Amino acid sequence: MVIGAIFAGGIGSRMGSADMPKQYLQLGSKPIIAHTIEKFAVNPGIDQVIVLCPKAWIAHTKDIIKKYLGERANVAVVEGGATRNGTLENALKYIAENYDIDDESVIVTHDAVRPFVTHRIISENIEAARKYGACDTVIPATDTIVDSADGKVIRSIPPRHELFQGQTPQSFNIKELSTVLASLTEDEKEILTDACKIFTIKNKPVHIVEGEVFNIKITYTYDLRVANALLGVAEND
Ligand code: CTP
Repeated sequence: MVIGAIFAGGIGSRMGSADMPKQYLQLGSKPIIAHTIEKFAVNPGIDQVIVLCPKAWIAHTKDIIKKYLGERANVAVVEGGATRNGTLENALKYIAENYDIDDESVIVTHDAVRPFVTHRIISENIEAARKYGACDTVIPATDTIVDSADGKVIRSIPPRHELFQGQTPQSFNIKELSTVLASLTEDEKEILTDACKIFTIKNKPVHIVEGEVFNIKITYTYDLRVANALLGVAEND
């Protein structure tokens, strides 16, 4: 079984939109989250989609799905967590309680605010998670990345060809991810800010899927303007 988990549990504080989390803002003809859910709901490699959002937004999310995707048996809406990893844990809990998971089952986790994900990226995530157990979607770093512990003085300048920028999806064998999560100490949980980091902390390889420059995350108002400009360009890729 392949499950797409759309992470929409955040409040979008950096976007500063007072009345709704950024994933519900309009992008072209529909809310950002509707674009993202659609990519997963229509992908033939995905069996089930789970959308994880703030409790207060569950009814609204269901309305959006009904309005823009029609009645869909393969899309569930579930409460997210207080942190992004809490949202991941809620996804795994819901999956354990509702679906028959076997050794081959895979979860493709994706930010609700990355509406330009492509079917190629989703398919390659499914394939890599099946084959290797874990994968991350990245693009090569284009700017020189500077390393500084205090933000005042440079510690080092790592070679750019060895650096990549993380996007989503991040995808995993569900049983392996659950086992690795359960094995974390409290200290390890503290430094765990990224699902792929869970695997690297435990010295497990995470394979790379090539992302797209236009697979942007909408974080600031500026990004929403860029996203509106990208509509049509990215959609036709
Ligand atoms: N996310 C989530 N659950 C959380 C926090 C974030 O599912 N508790 C999701 C967001 O909804 C978003 C994705 O993770 O789709 C990427 O996170 P980010 O861009 O940081 O979103 P927010 O946390 O909403 O933004 P901000 O940090 O500006 O508040």
